[in-house]
Amino acid sequence: MSRFALVTADADFEHRTRLATASLAGSLQAFQADYLPAEAADLVRQLVGEPLEVLVLGPDLRTDDVLRFAAALDVVMPHVSTVYAAQATPDLALSAMRAGVRDLVTPDIDSKLLRDHLEDAAQAAATRAAGSLFSEGASALEQGQGRVIAVMSPKGGVGKTTLATNIAVGLGRIAPMSVVVVDLDLQFGDVASGLGLTPERTIVDAATGPQDVLSLKTYLTSHPAGIYALCAPRNPADADRISVPVVAELIKHLTTQFQFVVIDTSPGLGEHVLAVLEQATDGVWVCGMDIPSVRGLKTGLEVLDELHLLPEKRIVVLNMADRKAGISVKDVEATLGVPVDLVLPRSRALPLSTNRGIPVLQDGLRDPVAKGLRSLIERFKPQWDKNHRQTHRREVFQ
Ligand SMILES: Nc1ncnc2c1ncn2[C@@H]1O[C@H](COP(=O)(O)OP(=O)(O)OP(=O)(O)O)[C@@H](O)[C@H]1O
Ligand SMILES: [Mg+2]
Repeated sequence: MSRFALVTADADFEHRTRLATASLAGSLQAFQADYLPAEAADLVRQLVGEPLEVLVLGPDLRTDDVLRFAAALDVVMPHVSTVYAAQATPDLALSAMRAGVRDLVTPDIDSKLLRDHLEDAAQAAATRAAGSLFSEGASALEQGQGRVIAVMSPKGGVGKTTLATNIAVGLGRIAPMSVVVVDLDLQFGDVASGLGLTPERTIVDAATGPQDVLSLKTYLTSHPAGIYALCAPRNPADADRISVPVVAELIKHLTTQFQFVVIDTSPGLGEHVLAVLEQATDGVWVCGMDIPSVRGLKTGLEVLDELHLLPEKRIVVLNMADRKAGISVKDVEATLGVPVDLVLPRSRALPLSTNRGIPVLQDGLRDPVAKGLRSLIERFKPQWDKNHRQTHRREVFQ
């Protein structure tokens, strides 16, 4: 396969694309046609040479066909970046994004600027391909399924949403477009607000509409950090319309499409959380530095252990740690009966980031709490499991 492929019958656009790719490594395979094949696989079969990274779709193709084709290609070859030459309108930009188109360029773009766009697109494709290699060590992924990271705590207000959004953004750097964060705090979820998103569709649409591969992505909201979000209902009353089996099914479908499904939950161990726990590969347990929070988590872990619902991997995060809290990390561990994995300090950066709708890991902030969150991301890399199987390592950030 060629590194670049182009479909267009527009000779001028083809000429500019040839000039644009001439100085980039890898060849261009052009299909002179003003239509797209019915199936994405039909095009894939005709590609020759090195692996395809970027598919350029010319301005003469029908927009509906392009969107349908891009969405289908996103399923067959998810790492490939699709670049579409069309006059961008807000509507088109939104539907293109939903269909998995990476970039829109104006039809009369000059070859120099097009070169820059294609170089970016190729780089993104290479990173995504590396992302899938990165995931190879994970057992869930070896079975063709994504890793499900559930962020939970029996008590409210301890930092679940903060952690879930930062985990998603942090993983998005390693596996762009392969991370989805699901807001399972169905009544008062604030993932959308924490990520600065205004969702058009929410989990209510996903739970009440078709769940086939193509429909699934239309329920998601895309975030500039290269991740997707399935947001909570706008109206708390709609939570009643989302049944437990449907949520379980939804998560199952998402794991077939994404390398990482990060789930933010409501406080406590409600029925939706329990249903998700059956599929979770990783449980991130968040606990504040106060006795009710620690006791609540201890009881929660005991109950789930009895129900055999504890995810295979457990990460206990002691959040908002404060030397003046009157209890030590050792006290917390003694009460919990399990070791604490990560201690995150109380930091003014976090309420600020919540209020701005920009997670600290998106911001590139230099702060102990950001350092701690980055170390949390390391724990989801398969190498981490290999290197730390025998030893427990508590990481403290102050
Ligand atoms: N380490 C921290 N230091 C200071 N503030 C923090 C820290 N972690 C989280 N916060 C702040 O605490 C508030 C509550 O956090 P968050 O919404 O993440 O908690 P939650 O567990 O999701 O709450 P809920 O149970 O209501 O969903 C937010 O304003 C957040 O910015
Ligand atoms: Mg929350």
